[in-house]
Amino acid sequence: MKPDQWHFSRPELAAGYLDLFGLGLSSARTLFAQRRMGKTEFLLKDLIPAAAARGYLSAYVNLWDDDKEPAGVLVGALYGAIEPNWWARLARRAKSPVRKLKASGKIPAFGEASVEAELSEEDKKYVDTLLSDALKAFDSQPKPLLLIIDEAQVLAAVAHSNFAHALRAELDVRKDRLKVIFAGSSESTLRTMFGRSSEPFFNWAPLEAFPLLGRDFLEFMVKKVNTIAKHQLSMKHAVAAFDQLNSTPEFFRRFLERHLTYPFDGPDAALQFTKEHVFNNEQFKRQWTGLLPADRALLGMMAQGMVSDFHGQAAREQLGTLLGLPKAPPMNTPAHSLRRLQADNIVTKLAHGEYRFEDEAFAQWIREQGTLGDDAPV
Ligand SMILES: Nc1ncnc2c1ncn2[C@@H]1O[C@H](COP(=O)(O)OP(=O)(O)OP(=O)(O)O)[C@@H](O)[C@H]1O
Ligand SMILES: [Mg+2]
Repeated sequence: MKPDQWHFSRPELAAGYLDLFGLGLSSARTLFAQRRMGKTEFLLKDLIPAAAARGYLSAYVNLWDDDKEPAGVLVGALYGAIEPNWWARLARRAKSPVRKLKASGKIPAFGEASVEAELSEEDKKYVDTLLSDALKAFDSQPKPLLLIIDEAQVLAAVAHSNFAHALRAELDVRKDRLKVIFAGSSESTLRTMFGRSSEPFFNWAPLEAFPLLGRDFLEFMVKKVNTIAKHQLSMKHAVAAFDQLNSTPEFFRRFLERHLTYPFDGPDAALQFTKEHVFNNEQFKRQWTGLLPADRALLGMMAQGMVSDFHGQAAREQLGTLLGLPKAPPMNTPAHSLRRLQADNIVTKLAHGEYRFEDEAFAQWIREQGTLGDDAPV
């Protein structure tokens, strides 16, 4: 594959994580940063190649690829890393539930197979077996493995609790050769996942903020742009633009693209254009208007973060007021709402009665609307 000309590589950051694992004092890390800040790009384009250069095998899995069946995706990624012919071998086994997993294309960055699980309830019992099979295959070869679990907060959902326990047990006994990076954008969910004693991954991996891209990234990009642009972009303009785009590398790249396409308009116009396009939140608006009133009211309450029990009398009374009802709605009103919101991947159930937004930016957007009068959701 052609290397990405616009990728700003971060070899020191990658080396830092690998050095840490090399020392043997810790075997796992959790990185969090808001959406679009460059986590996945770093993991795929910097960390994995650096790990390979040090003799690691690597397995990357993004649990959003199939958040209903993270077990299948993860087992597939492990096999892909450990055994080149895993798919053919497993599929030949007559009774193997793997026959029901089907290959779902390649992870483009490094060409390993991922799997999409189509497991029946009965098959789910076999997932633990599959996981331990995959890790036995790992045990039977000498290389260390770097396992990267992107959007790891999916594992915090109560629906995946059994698998999370099984995974943790398997990882526990292999800490010397199996290193794990968890990454995700939902800091609060990750904190729950690693910070609460009832959770399988309690205290398992220290949580740290993923170091954000800064001035050296801008210098790299500006230099590149100026090799092809007739109208040179100054660092001063670049810094101001990055700042106004919430220091988001993806948005900054859009700004550069606009600047390169319409050089005569100048950088201020390019920035104005980019801001209008990235901050218009069309998607949130569309999502919001597509929801039933009860679901909106409930999300509004959740965004404010004041409610702990959505089925309780107090919450239902609040819900009744928001919906203009004469009295509190019955228990199944919030129950149905929560079921719909989970099915639409808007909220995740972490534990009994405890719900979180999947995308914290949506919660933020809802809170912002709340102060805007007419269209206010709550
Ligand atoms: N090191 C980099 N060099 C150049 N561009 C980058 C870099 N990191 C990120 N970007 C740009 O930002 C975009 C978003 O990055 P990425 O998908 O890695 O973010 P993320 O933190 O994983 O976001 P999400 O939480 O939504 O998955 C990339 O597609 C790329 O355009
Ligand atoms: Mg990502």
